[in-house]
Amino acid sequence: MVLLICQHCNYKWDYQGENEHYATCPTCRYKVRISEEKAQMLRRKGLDMELKSKFSIKEHPVKLRGIAGIVNKAIEDYQYDKSMLIQILLRLQKNFGWLPMEMLLEISKQLEIPIHQVYQVATFYKTFSLAPRGRHLVRVCMGTSCNVQGAPIILDSLQKLLGIERGETTQDGRFSLETVKCIGCCGPSPAMIVDAEYYGNLEPAVLEKILARYT
Ligand code: FES
Repeated sequence: MVLLICQHCNYKWDYQGENEHYATCPTCRYKVRISEEKAQMLRRKGLDMELKSKFSIKEHPVKLRGIAGIVNKAIEDYQYDKSMLIQILLRLQKNFGWLPMEMLLEISKQLEIPIHQVYQVATFYKTFSLAPRGRHLVRVCMGTSCNVQGAPIILDSLQKLLGIERGETTQDGRFSLETVKCIGCCGPSPAMIVDAEYYGNLEPAVLEKILARYT
């Protein structure tokens, strides 16, 4: 864990990730460069953590910081109830924007649930993301009705407009692009959802205007 400061929004946080070159600011998603000095600290602490997890006994530390603290707060709010795993994941996803692997490991440790179970739940539901998402999530419906009405053209146009493929996030962290099976409004297809807003009867010409509403 090292202290990083975002050069874009000045947010400070304890980074616990494994990437030694850059980290994503939890607030504005800016890619923050990690200096070689801090990368070395990360390597040392990574080794420490590995050894600790191998040899330490299970306990809930009184004061936890960083990801451990964030996870601990969510779990405490649900009284360490294992059956509330989905709700805990939802809370963390909402607050953090995505679920880093370190977070899943921490949940597994603190809630005493095997990591493969936590991972299974986190990867089963589309709501959860194990990679950073943009500030706005664009979901294009690729269900049968939308497909017939031109969803592939809509997806293609969005990919060109945003300069990313499905499953990716724009470099400025503004949009993430995903596809879904059916969003339940097959009448005015093809359709998509941006965050919680539905758009139907889509044509490539209107997409730029729609995206411009989201900053
Ligand atoms: S198939 Fe697209 S909304 Fe149902």
